[in-house]
Amino acid sequence: MAGSRSTNYVDSDDCLLEYSYLFSPDLLRGKVAFITGGGSGIGFRIAEIFMRHGCNVAIGSRNTSRVEIAAKKLVQVTGGRCLSLCMDVRHVDEVSSAVEETVASLGLIDILVNNAAGNFLCPASSLSSKGFRTVMEIDTLGTFNTTKAVYERCFKQARGGIVVNLTATLGLRGQVMQVHAGCAKAAIDAMTRHLAVEWGPDAVRVNSLAPGPIEETEGMRRLGGSWARSAGLFQKLPLGRAGSKLDVAHAALFLASPAADYITGITLLVDGGSWLTTPNAFPDILPSAKL
Ligand code: HXC
Ligand code: NAP
Repeated sequence: MAGSRSTNYVDSDDCLLEYSYLFSPDLLRGKVAFITGGGSGIGFRIAEIFMRHGCNVAIGSRNTSRVEIAAKKLVQVTGGRCLSLCMDVRHVDEVSSAVEETVASLGLIDILVNNAAGNFLCPASSLSSKGFRTVMEIDTLGTFNTTKAVYERCFKQARGGIVVNLTATLGLRGQVMQVHAGCAKAAIDAMTRHLAVEWGPDAVRVNSLAPGPIEETEGMRRLGGSWARSAGLFQKLPLGRAGSKLDVAHAALFLASPAADYITGITLLVDGGSWLTTPNAFPDILPSAKL
């Protein structure tokens, strides 16, 4: 079995009940990370895992009470420092203030995780121009706004830094009712490559991390996850299961760590092989094959 449901899955924005270290607990000791959308879902778990590895973290999103509550939980469980910030990644002034507040409170930022996103299922024929634009603005423009603000304040003139952009596999193959999100995420993957080239000389590494279907997330709730689960689709993926938030957080930790020091401009897929195949239903197909 490729993986199992266990304590790796927590169906709320709470810390893991137990955690076994795979990497050195000091991997990010003394570093500062800024995580957009870090109050929920995948972003929350990335914040937790970074803090468990010695990193001080700022989490920012639109809903003040969400990030405040999340920061309290993270501090309580990890004993690290976590700053909660109210900001909309679409608004340059709010992003700049959040970056300034982070630097004043935690010090210069070493790692930026662009995780904030908006999505919904909608056929292209029903999608309004504003609906398309909204997702482009949160995902793509928001990633640009935040990356630029952190680069200008903390990374440039060869101080260096690390950017991890959360994208998706949607843009790799095409999917119904997802033209807005597929375009937005594909544009971020392009941004990753351009900035990796432009800022490599400043010692800035820029990579994308594209999750597949991840259990216990708003993304899965919105995009038909419960239907897919009850139809048994995840068992038919190459690795036989949906991912956990911890799977994604460990990949983010790797990209943010010195273990990835020579990696830039890539999109790391953390999807159990799901983009490679339609559901892996070969036992159903086998009887009809002419062998
Ligand atoms: C069609 C919709 C819609 C829907 C909103 N719109 N929801 N159109 N179907 N379900 C349209 C509205 O009608 C409006 O256009 C425009 O989008 C803006 O809507 P607002 O509600 O004003 O936008 P806003 O308040 O900025 O909210 C953004 C949001 C919202 C994206 C619509 O859902 C949100 O805040 N989401 C954040 C959380 C989230 O989505 N998490 C999941 C991330 S998962 P009109 O023309 O009518 O005025 C993810 C997975 C990616 O990203 C890949 C997975 C495989
Ligand atoms: P989520 O819990 O809804 O996370 C999105 C976060 O972004 C929320 O905390 C939200 O907080 C914040 N946000 C949204 N709009 C914002 C804005 N304008 N400014 C600032 N913050 C904003 O969803 P998730 O499922 O964990 O997804 C996390 C990331 O993984 C996203 O980039 C998503 O595209 C990607 N992903 C997820 C899956 C999956 O299976 N879940 C698959 C592929 C990719 P506020 O509402 O408080 O602003």
